[in-house]
Amino acid sequence: MHNAAFAALGVNSRYFAFEVEPVNLRAAIHGAKAMQFAGLNLTVPHKLPALNMVDVLDESARRWGAVNTVHFEGRTAEGDWRPLREFGVPPSGGKRKPVPVHDAGVPGEIRTVGFNTDADAIVTALREELKIKLPGAKILLLGAGGAGRTAALKLASENVGELYLVNRTRSKAEVVAAEIAKQFPSVRVFTDYPRTAIDLVLNATSLGLKPDDVPPLDEQCFCMSQTNAVYDMIYRPAETKLLAAARRAGRKTANGLSMLLYQGAKAFEIWTGRPAPIPVMRRALQAAVQSPESAVINRGRKIK
Ligand code: ATR
Repeated sequence: MHNAAFAALGVNSRYFAFEVEPVNLRAAIHGAKAMQFAGLNLTVPHKLPALNMVDVLDESARRWGAVNTVHFEGRTAEGDWRPLREFGVPPSGGKRKPVPVHDAGVPGEIRTVGFNTDADAIVTALREELKIKLPGAKILLLGAGGAGRTAALKLASENVGELYLVNRTRSKAEVVAAEIAKQFPSVRVFTDYPRTAIDLVLNATSLGLKPDDVPPLDEQCFCMSQTNAVYDMIYRPAETKLLAAARRAGRKTANGLSMLLYQGAKAFEIWTGRPAPIPVMRRALQAAVQSPESAVINRGRKIK
């Protein structure tokens, strides 16, 4: 999706995937800095360790406790930190607008800034795909691992009305519930299935990635007809058992592809300083996810 977006906007950049062992993460970030990369994305299992490996944490990374996007900045002769794209001579021609060039193209020093674009992507995806109005909404959130915790805190920050946190290991849901009670006291938070009609079921567990997984929702405890919509953070398979059951029950559904899209779009904007061409990125993403080649690189993990 990034390469399609670069091509569409005439940005002379390329996006590559590298497999990095956790023990090499710090060296990999330093290497990218030395090579004057514009930025990085990080995924499982690097998002938490990276908090201690970047020079500066953006408010988003500090708030959500994870880094999924890194931006490299250079120091100008005046001592300001500016994106690396503003150093060096811009290529002539192309669609790119001229940018200010600092220090004859050589940054005095480079620093890494860590961002989190995952949390906002959850909210954008729910709004765009399912037209959910979050303030006051009643939501059943399945999962209290890394992805579930971020989703719970982000939804609470959007002033949802009631949040039901259900997790196989109940104690983890209780820890997240306590965190919400402290930080967002106006949100009513429970660690049980709801007994009333709700707006949304959101799956943040990994159940559904494998064909023989049981659905994450226990329909003995909560009937599909009690929710208006279902979102599954998993995007491959495109339709999990949970989403199939929701569709059969006539509920609105969406999978995690939109979360992947919006976290990427935000990262693109951080790196390039330009609005992300969302339709281009969406089309490229759909094609990539459906191609058999991508199954090797990306094993269908949901966003973390
Ligand atoms: P992520 O960062 O993707 O959330 P994680 O932190 O390992 O990954 O969390 C995985 C989530 O899926 C957790 O909510 C986990 O439940 P536990 O906290 O009880 O481990 C849930 N999960 C994974 N396998 C499961 C299973 N077989 N049954 C029920 N829940 C499961």
